[in-house]
Amino acid sequence: MGVRFFCKEGEKMTTKVDKYELLKQQAESLLTGEFDLIANMSNLASLIFSELNDLNGTSFYRFKNDELILGPFQGKPACMHIKVGAGVCGTVAKNLTAEIVPDVHKFSGHIACDSASKSEIVVPIFKGSRFWGVLDLDSPKYNTFDEIDEKYLSQIAPLIFGVRSKKYEGAY
Ligand code: SME
Repeated sequence: MGVRFFCKEGEKMTTKVDKYELLKQQAESLLTGEFDLIANMSNLASLIFSELNDLNGTSFYRFKNDELILGPFQGKPACMHIKVGAGVCGTVAKNLTAEIVPDVHKFSGHIACDSASKSEIVVPIFKGSRFWGVLDLDSPKYNTFDEIDEKYLSQIAPLIFGVRSKKYEGAY
């Protein structure tokens, strides 16, 4: 069986989906009951950065005054203002759809905050139907991100707006 080649005897093979399912649960439990955006963005950036492999940056950008402005992040110091249409983040702000960039050197206009970055994913964050900002992950390896990352990051990022405790379900 192929599985034998990928894990030690008795050890369960962890797929990317398994990892994200766990990350989603961790994020929900970390953010439950907290509704302060800066606290939630800070902890979520840290959780993603520590739990996912091959990352050198995890950054939130808010859409404010018609541009993106840096929020809580992990990694090297990042670009603070990004215009709509500029770089990968600005392209997402313009098109309101995620960008998966297998090789940042081939993305015209890519903004390099960390010269180690080789691939990137940026997902838009919506509050209700309103565009609110983006979540940007950078990797020091090529081809790190795919549709699985897009699916889960799009579900996990809006948790910054707060997760109500199950105890109060039905009370709102
Ligand atoms: N690479 C991004 C800029 C943000 S930093 O990577 C944190 C871009 O091209 O928009």
